[in-house]
This record gives sequence, structure tokens and C-alpha cells, in this order.
Amino acid sequence: MCGIVGIVGKLNACKSALNVLKNLEYRGYDSAGLAFLQKNHLNTIKALGKLNELKSKFEILEEGIKDVSIAIGHTRWATHGKVILENTHPILSKNVAVVHNGIIENHDQIRLELKEKDVIFETTTDTEVIPHLLSISMKNTQNFFDACVSVVNKIEGAYAFAAIHSLNEEIFVARQTSPLVIGIGNEYNIVGSDAQSISQMVDEVIYLNDGDYAILNKTQIQIYDSDNKKVEREKINIQSNLNFLNKDGFKHFMEKEIHEQPNVLINTIGSLIRDENDLNIFPEKMNIQKNCGITICAAGTSYYAAMVGKYWIEKFSSIPVNVELSSEYRYRSPASEMYSCMIVISQSGESIDTLMAMREAKKLNLKTMAITNVEHSSIDREADYSIYTHVGPEVGVASTKSFTSQLIVLLSIAMKIGMYNKKITTEKCQDFIQNLKLVPNFLSKILSLNKEFINLAQAIKNSRNILYLGRGVLYPLALEGALKLKELSYIHSEGFAAGEMKHGPIALIEEGLPIIMFLTSDGMEEKSISNLQEAIARGGKVFLISDQKNINKISFIDNKVLIPSFQETWNDVFSPIFMSIPAQLIAYHVARERGTDIDQPRNLAKSVTVE
Ligand code: AGP
Repeated sequence: MCGIVGIVGKLNACKSALNVLKNLEYRGYDSAGLAFLQKNHLNTIKALGKLNELKSKFEILEEGIKDVSIAIGHTRWATHGKVILENTHPILSKNVAVVHNGIIENHDQIRLELKEKDVIFETTTDTEVIPHLLSISMKNTQNFFDACVSVVNKIEGAYAFAAIHSLNEEIFVARQTSPLVIGIGNEYNIVGSDAQSISQMVDEVIYLNDGDYAILNKTQIQIYDSDNKKVEREKINIQSNLNFLNKDGFKHFMEKEIHEQPNVLINTIGSLIRDENDLNIFPEKMNIQKNCGITICAAGTSYYAAMVGKYWIEKFSSIPVNVELSSEYRYRSPASEMYSCMIVISQSGESIDTLMAMREAKKLNLKTMAITNVEHSSIDREADYSIYTHVGPEVGVASTKSFTSQLIVLLSIAMKIGMYNKKITTEKCQDFIQNLKLVPNFLSKILSLNKEFINLAQAIKNSRNILYLGRGVLYPLALEGALKLKELSYIHSEGFAAGEMKHGPIALIEEGLPIIMFLTSDGMEEKSISNLQEAIARGGKVFLISDQKNINKISFIDNKVLIPSFQETWNDVFSPIFMSIPAQLIAYHVARERGTDIDQPRNLAKSVTVE
């Protein structure tokens, strides 16, 4: 992960770099640093902890470094080496400084070679091989650009890095799998890990392709491809959308993002509806074929959305669906003959596991389709076909609105493939569209039960272990609820399929263990309620989230939150979308009660660009 920035040609470059780093903090926040040139002398400022620590150090020095016009910066999510000042980027060697995002996979080998040349390492990072290789190469070539190219030819892995040296005001950048964007300014140029982060400063950006490298000074940008050929890459106009940095009166971004779901999901739904009885989804572009299945790959919350998608697509279209963790797919030699398409789901569009799974699918001749929130992200650009979730930037590390929007896209895909496959009539699709339009308003009603989830959170906030249960389409919700709770509150929580409890996990139940169950009236509620009885009989303390329709069947349960019931035909189908709100609110309020860092939980980052 990590965020990187570089600016050349703009006065007070350190301040501008800090502003960009603020927008990149979602990528990692365990330490941060800047390197800059002043009178041909390389200086650094580094700080452990969040970016504010670096900002405080910068402010003390600001007056004296206002004339600086070249700087690189970094916000770190540690991969190699502990979170200590020595390992904080930029990493230097003699007159060269480097910031890096990704992993240099052959760094051990290079380290050995460099040690034989008496190079002394001062960090335990994989990154440090880059500045050392660079300064050795510069001694030989006397040319910064050539030295950088020789380093690119030597290092392996998934990376993006920016390097400066003390002789000239120029920045070298290279990208292999990890994202990197160049912004074109007026008499200055800039690089950043994503376009949004630099959009305050430029109107036009260039996305580097995989394997590209470039050298920029204040007026020129020269780009080369992986064959070392000079290339022109498309310039794209971007619109600055910095409203995402505003919490709109909420205490946390996550809270804002939970509560804005009714509003932003209108965009998702609006973009999916073509007219009263058709959806803007094209099964031909996905290469949907009779007797062939779909594989869906994703990670984390997006993976749980994929699991729900499997239930829906198989139910409405009878197309077989295989759901896989992206990190597993790539390395397991999957049999691909029976699949014609891979759908990848990624909020950020940058998760490297998912990007690599998609590349693997391409090699296996599958058509690839992306469901993503970020246009022009790496996954979007490489997919054959993309559908956007259109919910705006998600700042909180925990996925909330991106999950519900992914579910809405997946359900719409299921309906459209069902029509394509003649399993769903136009009338049914029409009815679906009518009801889909009612979802945002319905979510507002569930959000208005906020107080009940605060009470629930207060009842479980001191627990050491918590279980989540669900059946059918709500089984993935149990997994998502548990993930949300563990990442925000650091309470150990696990999700299980309710029917699976008796096959082992029931052994975990002891007196007072909180068990949260999501229940909808789907025809299986009697079975789920029996599973609850089994848990209660063993001392489990059940908290039930159910729709109103089940009220008579669950009168024996004291702790319950009843959410309204939706229109009969669609109530259980839409239930994972509805139950997302309780899952999010429970995790949010437990974390708030415990005082954890909700928007930036420990050890995490929003966009995971390392394997
Ligand atoms: C969950 O709250 C996390 N944000 C995480 O599991 C996330 O869903 C996962 O890293 C995948 O991210 P992506 O959707 O951007 O690919």
C-alpha cells in the first residue's frame, strides 16, 4: 500500500506534497516523510504516526524552506521492517532519495550483492536496495535517468517508486502493477498514487501503464514503456472532488458514509436502470454462454458481496457461479474450461490480489468484467467491461456504502443475466426495477433505528468473543458483520452459516457469549430459529436482527431489533442489502464505545496494493 507523491517546479513544494499526502493517508498511516532539495542539498523530514506528526515538524521548518521547488513524500503502511524512524521513507543513499509503494521481491538477493560491494544498510526495508543501486549506478553512468533505468531493469515485484537526486530538479518514476498517476500543472508537474489526491493541483492527468517509467521536470514529461520505447500516453481531464474530505457534521467518515447510503445509492441505481423494464448491463460483453459458468474474484468485504452474488445469480439465471478469494485464485492453477467470464469486485480498483486474479483470468481466455467504484483505476482500465458503483470516494477504511452498492450491482446483473437466459420475464424485471427504486428510502427507515443499535453495542462492547450467524443470502452477511466488528473494535468475532454451527463451532458457546443473528422471512426462518434455540440452550446470549414479519415466531427472544418488512416478493431477495445497515451500525457503535480509531483502524489501509 503506501501513498507516494512527487512535485517539481512549484514553490513551497513540501507544503503541496503534504497536502497530497493528506489525500493519500488512506493508503497507510504508520509513518510519513518528505525529501526535498535546497541549494543542491538533499534534506528530509520524517515522523512516526499519522500525517499530523509530520505536519507539526514541517511547520517548525516551513519559513526556511518556502523556496523549495522539488520534493517527494510518502505515507507508509509497513511491509518490510518495523515502524521506526529509520524505516520511514524517503530512504536515502548518498545524494539520492526514494519513496516506494509495493514490494521488491528480489530485494534479499540484491542486498547480498550490494553487501559484497561494502554497501552498509541502515534500514530493514526492501526499498533501501533502490537508492543504493541508484547511487552505485550513477557513479558509473554519471547520468540520473540512465541509472534509474538500470535499477528498473534489476528490481522485480509489484512497485511504484519516485526518486530524486541532488544535482538536477527532476523526478524519476516507475510503475510495475502498483498505481501511479502524473499530473500536468502550469510550469510544474506532479506524481501521486491516485488521481484524486492530486486533483486540487491539476486538471489533466496521465495514467502510467504497467511497466512504464518516466522522467519529469517542471515543464517536461518523458514516458517510456517496458520495451524502453518513448511513448505518449493519453491525457485525461479530471474533476476535483474534494467534498469527500468533509465529514458533514458526523464524527467519523464511516458514520457519514453509513448515513449517506440512501442518497448515494440513488446514483448506483440510476446508472443501472436503462428504462422501466431494462437494465444497463450487457451480458454479451461479459461473454455469458449457455453451459458455461462465471467465476467471481474479490477480497475482504468485496468477497462477501461476491458470495451474496453467487446466491442471486444462480437463483435468477441458473448460471453456475464460482466465488474465490483473489489471493488464492492466482496461484492455484484453476480449471477454466467451464467458465466464460470472470467478474472482479473491487471498491478501490487497486487491490493487487484482485488485479492479479483478473490478469490470470485473461491469460485463461476468460472475458473480464469489473465492478468498481473508481473509474480509471488499474482494474477498471484492464477489465474488458466495467460497471461503476458511483457512490463517491469512501474514506473510512471499513467498507460500507461500497458494499451495499456492490450488492445492488450484483443483484441487477443476476436479473439481467436471468432475462438474457430467458429465466426472468420482462414483467419480473420491470417489477424488480420498481422495487429497486424503493430501496434507498427503505434504507433510511432502517437507519432511523440507530438508537437501537447503540443499545445493542453497549450490551456487547466488553465481550472478548462474538459470533454472527445467518443462513442463505444472509450467511455472507454474518461473515461481513464479523469482519466489520473485528477490524473496527478489535474484538474477536466470527461469522458462521447457522446450519453449520452444530458441526463444530457450537463448541465455542459458553455462558453469556453474544451471538448476533440476521434473520429474514425466506422460508428457512424456522430452521434458523431452531439453530438459535440450540445456542440459547448452551448459554449463548442471542441478539436477533429480524424483519417484522417474523415477530410471532421470535417472541421468546428478549434482545432483538426488528427492521421493517419490504414488499412481499422482494423482502428476502433484498435482505442482504437491508441487513448491511445493522451490520455496519453495530460495528461502528461498538468501536465508538471502545474508543478505537474508527476511520483508520490499526494495521490496516484502505487500498491493499501488496500481495
Ligand atoms: C473491509 O471493510 C475492508 N475495507 C477490506 O476488506 C476491503 O473490502 C478489501 O481490502 C478489498 O478492497 P477493494 O474492494 O478495494 O478491492
